Amino acid sequence: MTYTKKTVHGAWSSRFAFILAATGSAVGLGNIWKFPYITGENGGGAFVIVYLLCVLLIGIPIMIAETMLGRRSQKNPIEAMEVLTDEAGADHNWHYLGWMGVIAGLLILSYYSVIAGWASAYILKAFTGSFLDADALTIKKIFDDFVASPIQLIFWHSLFMLATMLIVVRGVNNGLEKAAQYLMPSLFVLIFALVGYAMTTDSYFQGLHFLFMPDFSKLTSNSVLTAMGHAFFTLSLGMGAIMVYGSYLSKNISIAKTAFLIAGADTVVALLAGIAIFPIVFANNLHPNSGPGLIFETLPIAFGSMTGGWLMGILFFVMLAVAALTSAISLIEPAVAWLVENKDFTREKACVWSGLVTWALGLGTVFSFNIWSNVKFFDRSIFQLLDYLTANLMLPIGGFCIAVFSGWIMKKHHSEQELNMPNETSYQIWKLLISYVAPGSVFLVFLHVIGVL
Ligand code: PHE
Repeated sequence: MTYTKKTVHGAWSSRFAFILAATGSAVGLGNIWKFPYITGENGGGAFVIVYLLCVLLIGIPIMIAETMLGRRSQKNPIEAMEVLTDEAGADHNWHYLGWMGVIAGLLILSYYSVIAGWASAYILKAFTGSFLDADALTIKKIFDDFVASPIQLIFWHSLFMLATMLIVVRGVNNGLEKAAQYLMPSLFVLIFALVGYAMTTDSYFQGLHFLFMPDFSKLTSNSVLTAMGHAFFTLSLGMGAIMVYGSYLSKNISIAKTAFLIAGADTVVALLAGIAIFPIVFANNLHPNSGPGLIFETLPIAFGSMTGGWLMGILFFVMLAVAALTSAISLIEPAVAWLVENKDFTREKACVWSGLVTWALGLGTVFSFNIWSNVKFFDRSIFQLLDYLTANLMLPIGGFCIAVFSGWIMKKHHSEQELNMPNETSYQIWKLLISYVAPGSVFLVFLHVIGVL
């Protein structure tokens, strides 16, 4: 396989490397931390079905489109949109789409890093045996005491940001590719083991029931928005991460096939995480809607009581932190790529600046769990506001624009050539989804939320 493009960040060494990096970006806290807790908050089954539908009808077509735009332009998202509008003879305002992506990435990373810090702190807690034979109450107290301490959260947030910057500074394919190659499959195995543990609890079927039996009366328009937003979040769509990765992808690779593979792996990990967590929730009389602490209040119970749980606990949180790391680098890569390619920053300087800004923003999330927990905007804490703004608004808006651009603005023969699908029917199906179904659904959900529909 030949890789023609050599940019400041390097090109992927193989198709497998791209799949690994894009899966690394997709699979992260979104699957293991966020999916279970928002499913718990939104009543289970019905929410899961909406989420799955969104992945299939909106997420996958947009993932194909976003990778395509990246590969066609071979540029960072802001410049990519400039190059592509030129090619299509369209209005230049489209480059604001790239801007929004860069900003969304930094905003997401600001809170993502705080939560990844929690996962990192839990490696140490697992190591020192804090969970051994602990009951649900003790585990909850460990979590509550931890998030009540701004100093501890700042420490772990800083450590995680530092790790992210150290990797990003070296470019995407130095070392991380290799690390992800082993760690991602191991994470998969470990989640399977946790599902095994969940099967031994009395509440296994209650957990499955909660996750897969839809009760549509529990679905509000905001849950639909959350499910849709999460489809974007979990697949890393709508902010340019996949576009940047696509820009390093060689021309002879089937984008559609790759997108299915990545979305499939991502969805399986999320569902398995749910299957592992909810039985533990019910077996210990915990509440599925306990919020962002859900995995930290449930999984340690399993680690504390199962055979080999000490080691499993350590490994699990190590892998969670690594999965978060491979997502974090893709959140900041659009900003760094833009500073390097357009603003003549050295890669080091670009990393330091974007890292510092993100770190400082992250303090807002840190404090929203303790000293500023009463500070509310529109009834939301700073963390909740950032999450809502990015996952529920910016990513879907970004995705909507990517769909409209790919379906309506880009010339048909260009997208057809770039996607190079095996047959005309597949292309037509994608074209239909990207022109009508995906943007139409996003639009309808928004209308519903603001009460027009
Ligand atoms: N997809 C990542 C996750 O599920 C988060 C992410 C969102 C990464 C957007 C990049 C871009 O954890």
